[in-house]
Amino acid sequence: MEITKDIRYIGVNDHQVDLFEGQYAVPLGMAYNSYLILDDKIAVMDTVAEGFTHAWIEKLTVALGGRKPDYLVIQHMEPDHSASIGCFMHTYPQATIVSSAKAFTMMKNFYGEDYADRRIVVGEKDTLPLGKHTLTFVAAPMVHWPEVIVTYDDADKVLFSADGFGKFGALDREDPEGWACEARRYYFGIVGKYGAQVQALLKKAAALDIQIICPTHGPVLTGDLSYYLNLYNIWSSYGVESEGVVIAYTSVYGHTKAAAEELAAKLEARGCPKVSLTDLARDDMPEAVEDAFRYGTLVLASTTYNAEVFPPMRTFIEHLAERGYKNRTVAFIENGSWAPMAAKVMKGLLEGCKGLTFAEPTVRILSALNAESEAQLEALADALCPRG
Ligand code: FEO
Repeated sequence: MEITKDIRYIGVNDHQVDLFEGQYAVPLGMAYNSYLILDDKIAVMDTVAEGFTHAWIEKLTVALGGRKPDYLVIQHMEPDHSASIGCFMHTYPQATIVSSAKAFTMMKNFYGEDYADRRIVVGEKDTLPLGKHTLTFVAAPMVHWPEVIVTYDDADKVLFSADGFGKFGALDREDPEGWACEARRYYFGIVGKYGAQVQALLKKAAALDIQIICPTHGPVLTGDLSYYLNLYNIWSSYGVESEGVVIAYTSVYGHTKAAAEELAAKLEARGCPKVSLTDLARDDMPEAVEDAFRYGTLVLASTTYNAEVFPPMRTFIEHLAERGYKNRTVAFIENGSWAPMAAKVMKGLLEGCKGLTFAEPTVRILSALNAESEAQLEALADALCPRG
């Protein structure tokens, strides 16, 4: 696939992966992107995951048309991009590997080899002339590992963005939901904790004239890039992307679920622009995390369990807290048959999150909804979405 006259796509699609990075369901598969820059000197940008090395080398060989690569640029050492380094360096013994100092340390740790006599160590603003194209390297620490560099090609105005602007989904299947949905789930799942570092990278990117973004996952981005840059700016600054309420619940016998559904109906009846209801034990947890960051209001509804909260609720809140969840409105529904304490526990789990506003009242259910808890639900719906 030709991206520009000199740049080719040589990535692969993975439809065998059960869980990406060991935890993310990827019903549309996954793409491991790699690119080839053909100039006086030839550079390959990143490799692909284990199991796809052979297919990748074959694609590379065809795209090279009999030439030999001079450089392998490794922007990120996570094995979905680095696992084929050894095969590449063996296949092309004349090639030099170009990466950050931290990446070479990781290379040795992962693969037992750091190519001490075949490497160029690069850092912030270092350049690699290829001929017409000159690559400029930009440090992008913690987007999303510390060794990451991204690369700008001034000739074609391309940013090779490593995992930045990545997305779940293989490239040989159309994503019916478009770019943002699986890009958002990817972002908050994988990079979400590092908003400050993404903001720093966006500031550096703003100084560059970028026409094309080539990430290591998901489609090559062209056209009006402000759409993608704007979403990344909102996500990495923990801004509210859309007005709406997420109701995340756990339920053992259905009573907490009934309360969650009743609140959802009340909010919808009041004209709340979006209500997203999720069963944390059954629905996709990364999607619930994504939604919590997407919308401005979150209702947590849990039964009390072992003087705690139901385990999927604890996991969910921990996912939010470790990703820097902040600047949102949060409300609680707790259930307990003899000593309800879920609300206190949930609030405690959010203790380190900044800028949260806790909506009142907390709904307290004693086993099943009754007139009193129904009235609390009504009051909470009024608080979250006042009647117009
Ligand atoms: Fe796609 Fe962080 O590896």
